[in-house]
Amino acid sequence: MDLTREEQAILDGESGEGAQKAMELVVALGKIYRAEGLVDITSAHLSGASYKTIGDGGLLYLEDMVKGGAKVKVPSTLNPIGMDRTRWSEMHITDDFAKKQLRIVELYGSMGIKTTCSCTPYTGANVPKLGDHVAWAESSALSFVNSMIGARTNREGGPGALAAAILGKTANYGLHLKENRKPTVIIDADIGDSLFEHSLLGQAVGMAIGNGIPYYKGVRPGIEEGKTMAAAMAAAGAVAMFHVEGVTPEYKDFDISGLETIHIGKKELKDAFEKLNTVDDVQLISLGCPHLTEKEIHEIAMMLKGKKKRGDTEIWFCTSEAVRSKCTEDVRILEEFGPVLADTCMVVAPIEGAFSRTATNSCKAGNYLPTLCSQKVMCKDIAELLKVVY
Ligand code: F3S
Repeated sequence: MDLTREEQAILDGESGEGAQKAMELVVALGKIYRAEGLVDITSAHLSGASYKTIGDGGLLYLEDMVKGGAKVKVPSTLNPIGMDRTRWSEMHITDDFAKKQLRIVELYGSMGIKTTCSCTPYTGANVPKLGDHVAWAESSALSFVNSMIGARTNREGGPGALAAAILGKTANYGLHLKENRKPTVIIDADIGDSLFEHSLLGQAVGMAIGNGIPYYKGVRPGIEEGKTMAAAMAAAGAVAMFHVEGVTPEYKDFDISGLETIHIGKKELKDAFEKLNTVDDVQLISLGCPHLTEKEIHEIAMMLKGKKKRGDTEIWFCTSEAVRSKCTEDVRILEEFGPVLADTCMVVAPIEGAFSRTATNSCKAGNYLPTLCSQKVMCKDIAELLKVVY
């Protein structure tokens, strides 16, 4: 791998231990994937922010990085953490968890990372442009920016994205190179307009292709549909980029003649639905995977307006602090049913301490709740889930 003199000096420790560790990791990744060199990035988005997912080992790693003087060189944001920073007592969180979680956020903050803690930073806190090279972790977000914006990132892990943020560079391979962004299969989608059907579509495609780069015909996703498709494809498979005809900035750049076509219609959506639904009654309904946008919060508020909460099923609405603080009137309606939680989600919070059966409208959460949170899952459309609480 070719390193510039400046990059080699960082590797030799001339810029401090934190930068040296970061360079060691980026170079190691570059060697594995046969990168010829590094590429400058304009932003990073980091996962590994919840104490539940990184534990004491992760906390110690961050303490070491901060002690080594690590600071990020490019605008960087953070994925959801294990609790709402001000309302964690409503989430059945212990004092010990809260203390360690707050320390993790403090450590990231002291490296210069914006502690906005959302998986949808592309809606405000961190918005890449077409052609930007970035280093993003969080499978749904990185797929969204590759596919709906045309920025370029690989599927980074938390430590890799942090290292890239510290250097302002990442190894130049995979989806950073135009030739690797070519579609590998055509998806002929025949689905309805609902958000849930778009989530099921992503689930069905992830199940059908595993990884690769699908090229969609027959859908025109906006932000909300795009984020739920991206999330489901990345969770059911390992899709890090997709093209949508008429939407993806690069969709015309490749010759797709001769690619295999897979039809996804009612039958495939039904199969995807049946795979995820394992329970008929739940203790918690959690919406906002990926984080709810202002539009989604408004739509939920309109569905709940004038209704009264019934039963003892809890309901959580997960979003970012930035969105929560903008939607005060709609948030007031939602709060009559359950907390609007900021900067956290049902998967990275330790919900298994309080619940064993959870409902979601997100196929991504439907995949992860059983494995990461020991939950039996109900996965349905928002309108149907809300009927459980009114
Ligand atoms: Fe975001 Fe949590 Fe879902 S990080 S994509 S809400 S699992």
